[in-house]
Order: sequence, then C-alpha cells, then structure tokens
Amino acid sequence: MTGPEELLDLARRVAREAGQRIEELRRDGVSVAGTKSSDVDVVTRADQASEELIRDRLLTERPDDGFVGEEGDDVAGTSGVRWVVDPIDGTVNYLYGIPDYAVSVAASVDGAVVAGVVLNPAAGEEFVAVRGGGATRNGDPVRVRPFVSLEQSMLATGFNYEQPVRARQADAVARVLPRVRDIRRLGSCALDLCGVACGRFDAYAEEGVNEWDHAAGALIAREAGARVELATGASGKEFILCAPEESFATFRDLAHDVGMI
Ligand code: IPD
Ligand code: CA
Ligand code: CA
Repeated sequence: MTGPEELLDLARRVAREAGQRIEELRRDGVSVAGTKSSDVDVVTRADQASEELIRDRLLTERPDDGFVGEEGDDVAGTSGVRWVVDPIDGTVNYLYGIPDYAVSVAASVDGAVVAGVVLNPAAGEEFVAVRGGGATRNGDPVRVRPFVSLEQSMLATGFNYEQPVRARQADAVARVLPRVRDIRRLGSCALDLCGVACGRFDAYAEEGVNEWDHAAGALIAREAGARVELATGASGKEFILCAPEESFATFRDLAHDVGMI
C-alpha cells in the first residue's frame, strides 16, 4: 500500500499542473459551458478541462484507484485509495476574475482522507496536509487562531445556489451578525477551510457543501488544530462546521441558536 506522503506528492504535482492550466485558460477568456443546480450554479470549460487533466494524470499513474470529481462520472477502483477532486472550487470567482478559487485534491484510504492539497493558483498559495503530519502553506506550518470571544470572532460562510436555501441562510446570517465581529463570504469552501487552518477566520459554517468541496480542506484544517464536523442543515442539506477544538462547542451552539442546524 502506498503511504500518505507519496499520495500527497502525486496530488501536489497534479494540482499544480491543473492550476497552471486553469490560469492559462483564464487568460484566454472564461465562458459558461452550462448550469447545474440553478441558473447561478455554473460550470466553465476550465472546470471540465481541469477535472479531465487531474483524472487522467491520477489514473494513468494509479490505474486501480477510485476517483470522484465534481464534473464527471465516478470510478470505483480496487486499490483502497480513492481520490476526491474539485477541479475548481470557487467557479463563480473564477468567472469574475476574483482571485479566490482553488484546485482541491484529496486522497482517501479505506474511507479516511490521508493527504490533501488546496492550491489557489491566482494567489500563489498552496495548502497541504497528510494525516498526522500537520498542515502547511507554501511549506510553512499553519495553525488555527487562538479563540478570544464570540463577539470578536470572524466567521466565514457561504450561500447555496438554490434560492429557497439561500433565503433561510440569509435569515440565519441576520441573526449571527449582531453576535460576532464580522462575516466573510469568499466563495470557496476549500479556501474557507484553509482560512480557518491558517488563522484568517475563527470559524467556517455552511450548508449545502459536497464531499469534493471539503475533502482536502477539512484534513488541512484538522491538521492545523481545528475540529470539522458534518451535520444536516436547516434545509436538509449537508452542513459543515469548522472551528478550533477549543471554540468548537461555542460555534456549534451559535449555529443551533440562529437556525443553521
Ligand atoms: C462552491 C464554493 C462556494 C460554496 C458552494 C460550493 P463550486 O463550489 O465552494 O464557496 O458556497 O457551496 O458549491 O461550485 O465553486 O465548485
Ligand atoms: Ca466546490
Ligand atoms: Ca467546482
């Protein structure tokens, strides 16, 4: 069986190649290739090209592995290793030229994520982690921010592409705002998790995420001292909460009080 370090090495090489490719494609101009869950949930040619590249490179080197990506069909695999890939997390930012999007590649072994890369090619930031080995940004160790108080905390969140879910999220946000320092909505779940990992945010909470959004980022956040839990949100979709171990219960109570869960 291949070790996590080797899987990380491959994930990193492939994410860098995909990152370069999407930057080249951006320079040529971005156009919408189609829509998914709603008119504002778009997919671009670059999402498709990035996923094809990642899938091709991973399965050429490791043909027995499983693969799940946001844009294509799943591959079951027989090796026990399964890749979970978001070829561009933050597609709407990519479309608008807002430099908060990432290539996210995670490797899981027998169901547990053991290696992950979240690469933001526009910002030149690469977050990586292996299970039990800590997390880094561009090679330097990262750590969650020490908790001060709820009133002084910066919370990251996101809004779903489906309008009824958004309406409930807007209500919850209106109830959170008076209780915290502020809220940020960057537009990439993977980068939000890395934001908690490196102390830019005190916590991150969002309903309506998928496995490919958080597989790599959650490992990076955990390895930096965060707890990450999945639950069912108020609209019945997958809800994620990520916060440092010491303040996790505070943010879970907040999410509950304001009707996120
Ligand atoms: C989305 C981003 C966004 C989050 C959505 C995700 P995509 O992924 O992570 O921040 O709010 O829930 O679907 O569509 O850009 O890959
Ligand atoms: Ca995503
Ligand atoms: Ca995506």
